[in-house]
Amino acid sequence: MNVADALKQRRSIRAYLDQALEVEKIIHILEHAKRAPSGINMQPFKVHVVQGESKKKIEKRMLHAFDHQEKEKMDYQYYPLAWQEPYKSRRKAVGKQIYQLLDIKREDHAKQKAQWRANYQAFGAPVVLYCFIDANLERGSYLDYGIFLQSVMLMATQIGLGSTPMASLAEFPSIVREELGIASQSHLLCGIALGYIDHDAPINHLRTPRIDLEEFTTFHP
Ligand SMILES: Cc1cc2nc3c(=O)[nH]c(=O)nc-3n(C[C@H](O)[C@H](O)[C@H](O)COP(=O)(O)O)c2cc1C
Repeated sequence: MNVADALKQRRSIRAYLDQALEVEKIIHILEHAKRAPSGINMQPFKVHVVQGESKKKIEKRMLHAFDHQEKEKMDYQYYPLAWQEPYKSRRKAVGKQIYQLLDIKREDHAKQKAQWRANYQAFGAPVVLYCFIDANLERGSYLDYGIFLQSVMLMATQIGLGSTPMASLAEFPSIVREELGIASQSHLLCGIALGYIDHDAPINHLRTPRIDLEEFTTFHP
C-alpha cells in the first residue's frame, strides 16, 4: 500500500472485533512511526501500550466516573471553549452522520449517552496507546506529536488494522496516570485505539467529508 492509499483508507474506527492484537504488530507500527520528524529531533513522544488487565482497570474507573457525572480537567484544552463557524457546523455534521449510521434519533438521549460511553471502552479495541508529553514542552512539540499520531494510524492502516484517535480517553488524566504509575509532569494528550476492524458494523462505514482544496489553500503568484 502506498501513502496515498493509506491516507484514503484510514478512517476512525468505532467498532472492533473481540480479538487480541499481536504485540509484534504494535512494535512494527511504533518502529515505523518513530521516524516522524520533530523540531531539532526532540522526539517528544511517550507512548504507553495498554491492553489486558491494565486496560480493564482504567476502563472500569473511567466508566464509573462518567456514570457518576464526575468531571476532571484535561491536561490541556483540546476543543475551543466557544464554538464558532465554520467549526461548529462541521462538528454538528459529523455528529449527525454518526447518529444516522447508528440509527439514533435526535431525541433519544439514552442511546446517545450509551454511544458516548462506548468511547471510554475504546469502542472495544483490545489496545490503547496512551500518548503522553512532558508538561514543560511547548506548542511546537504538540505539532510534532500530531505528525507522529498520523504516522501510527497510517502504519496501522497499511497492515490492515483499525485505529481511532481519542481525545475522550484523555478526559480523566489522573485516573490514567494513577493506574499506569505516571508522574504529573507527563501530560496526557490522547489515546489511540488499535485493533481488528469489525467490518460488519454500520458505524465503520462512516466516510467523513473534507472541504475543497480552494477552501483551505491560497496560491500566490
Ligand atoms: C486528536 C483527535 C481526537 C479525537 N477524539 C475522538 C474521540 O474521543 N471519539 C471519537 O469517536 N472520535 C474522535 N476523533 C475522531 C474524529 O471525529 C475524526 O477524525 C473526524 O471526524 C474525521 O473522520 P475520520 O477520522 O474517519 O477521517 C478524534 C480525532 C482526533 C484527530
